[in-house]
Amino acid sequence: MAASTNVTWHDLSLTKEFRRVQNAHHSFVIWFTGLSGSGKSTVANELANRLYKDGISNYVLDGDNIRHGLNNDLGFSEEDRKENIRRIGEVSKLFVDSGQVVLTAFISPFKEDREIVRNLLEVDEFIEVYVKCPIEECENRDPKGLYQKARNGLIKDFTGIDSPYEEPENPEFVVETDRFSTEECVEQLVSYLTERNFI
Ligand code: PPS
Repeated sequence: MAASTNVTWHDLSLTKEFRRVQNAHHSFVIWFTGLSGSGKSTVANELANRLYKDGISNYVLDGDNIRHGLNNDLGFSEEDRKENIRRIGEVSKLFVDSGQVVLTAFISPFKEDREIVRNLLEVDEFIEVYVKCPIEECENRDPKGLYQKARNGLIKDFTGIDSPYEEPENPEFVVETDRFSTEECVEQLVSYLTERNFI
């Protein structure tokens, strides 16, 4: 694919600062990362509902869903996962620019790719949330039967089985879905966001 050349950046007069004032809240990314079946989508979805009820304009970008459209040309090789996360980082930045809170639910297994997204954004625009759950529990849940398929050799490059997951070293927040209910995880996140004046 050829890189873009001869393109010029246009500054828009309606900035994210104006949009934040109109929305009456900050705009930022809550980046959920974790193993398949750890509960990323569930927690992101419930938090989105909670923020919506509180009048906070938000949108969930979910791995499975995005791979049905925007990223349906990508598989699960290291290179494709990297491109997946790069695109989502850029899309997230657009959402932040539009004044919204964006919740992303991608495995995003590689530290380096998550750091690239972090560096695309301002310091107060990126919150990495590690959805922590032992792989044994994820495999036990196996909501889509994918671990079973991976164990039977029907899916290759499956995260945690024959493809790596690099745990976050310094995430802004950790939710432990094997120890707390979804509601409790959401409450913990809301407290964190409130205490730090994100919402
Ligand atoms: S990644 O690693 O961030 O690019 O993955 P992501 O875009 O989040 O997509 C993960 C979902 O794809 C399904 N799936 C797989 N996951 C991991 N490894 C392999 N090989 C794979 N094949 C399909 C699976 O449903 C993941 O969803 P979650 O919600 O994480 O279980």
